[in-house]
Amino acid sequence: MTSEFDLRMEKDVSTARIKKTLIFRTRTSRRHFLFQVTAAIAAFTLGPRFLALAQAATAGATKTADLSTQEAVSIRLTINGKGYAIDQLDPRVTVLDLLRERLHLTGSKKGCDHGQCGACTVLINGRRVNSCLTLAVVNDGAEITTIEGLADGERLHPMQAAFINHDGFQCGYCTPGQICSAVALVKEGHATDDEQIREWMSGNICRCGAYTNILAAIKEARDQSGAAVKG
Ligand code: FES
Ligand code: FES
Repeated sequence: MTSEFDLRMEKDVSTARIKKTLIFRTRTSRRHFLFQVTAAIAAFTLGPRFLALAQAATAGATKTADLSTQEAVSIRLTINGKGYAIDQLDPRVTVLDLLRERLHLTGSKKGCDHGQCGACTVLINGRRVNSCLTLAVVNDGAEITTIEGLADGERLHPMQAAFINHDGFQCGYCTPGQICSAVALVKEGHATDDEQIREWMSGNICRCGAYTNILAAIKEARDQSGAAVKG
C-alpha cells in the first residue's frame, strides 16, 4: 500500500522532472545549455580573442568540407607583362586574393573586400576593376596591370611621380588603387575638369582625406600626358 509519504515523494520527483524538462528539455539539451553558458562566460571574459579563435575553427571546418567537393581549374593570365599559368585554382578565388596570396603581388590592397573602397583597383584589359569583386577564373586570358607594373624599371609612371610631388597620400593604403584608377581615368578622357575627376574617382576612398592633393596630382599627370582639358 502506498503511504502518504511515498505519494508526496512521487509528486515532488515528477514536479522536478517537469521543471527540468521545461528548462532543459532533455539531458542533451541540459549539457548543451551548460556548454552555451560556459562559452558565453568565456566569450565575455576573453572577448574578441575567443571569438576570433571560434571563427577560425569554424572557417577551418568549412574550408576542409568545401575543398573536398570543389573542382580546381587552370587559367592563364598576363600580369604586368609577364605570363602566368595558374593550376589548381579554386574557382572561388578573386583576382585580389590570387594576386596577393598566391602570386605575392601585394601592392593591390584589401580594404573592404566588398567593392566599396577601391583599394584593390587594378587594370584588367585596360579597364579599372575592383579586384576583390571579380573571380580569377572569369578573367582567364586577361591582361592585368597592378601598381607593381606601372613603373618602367626605376622610372616611375608619371602618375606615381605626380602623387609624390603633391603628397597625394598619408598612410598610403589607398594609394595603389588611387593611382591605378587615376591612370585609367586620364586614358578614358574623364579628367577634363576638377568636377569630373572627383566624380570618376569617387569609387576610390581615402580615409586619410588626401583628396585635395590627389586631385592636384591627377591634374599634373593629365597635363603631362597631353590629355584633353575642359575649356
Ligand atoms: Fe576591393 Fe575595397 S577591397 S573595393
Ligand atoms: Fe591613407 Fe588614403 S592615404 S587612406
